[in-house]
Amino acid sequence: MPSGGALYPIDAYAVVGAGGVEGVQPAIYRYEPDDHSISLVVEGDLRQPLAKASLGQMWMAKAPVSMVITAEYRRITSKYGERGVRYAMIEAGHVAQNIFLQAEALGMGAGIVGAFHDNEVIQVMRIPLSHEPLIIMPVGHKN
Ligand SMILES: Cc1cc2nc3c(=O)[nH]c(=O)nc-3n(C[C@H](O)[C@H](O)[C@H](O)COP(=O)(O)O)c2cc1C
Repeated sequence: MPSGGALYPIDAYAVVGAGGVEGVQPAIYRYEPDDHSISLVVEGDLRQPLAKASLGQMWMAKAPVSMVITAEYRRITSKYGERGVRYAMIEAGHVAQNIFLQAEALGMGAGIVGAFHDNEVIQVMRIPLSHEPLIIMPVGHKN
């Protein structure tokens, strides 16, 4: 994945529902780019709270898994100033498009959601306030 200055301001999370992904417990997982693994963030099926935080778009909770893309701007603004915010958003778009392409390649649909309360999503996800949620992508079910 290209990243301005190779500073990687984006994090990707998977909100996995009960029975959503074969062999994976319902929970929120974070993608760890260093070794391409996933780490547990919080246990449980949090699709309903995530949908509620997204202005009550409850269709989202029907998707077996939702990907959440967040940005921690300071990783990149430390080098590029305000322009780093632009770079982070461009990168989030790349990540989202890759998720669309991969979902299609696996024979699944994916949706994209930009309407949500940032703070509520942060609370559900148990992520630091410095991480801004940018895009939520329910995979395996389309509105
Ligand atoms: C940045 C962005 C944010 C979006 N947010 C939402 C959303 O919150 N809820 C929703 O149902 N669709 C959302 N959409 C999807 C659009 O409504 C949808 O792409 C558009 O209606 C065209 O439909 P199509 O993608 O099926 O062709 C969003 C799309 C983009 C690109």
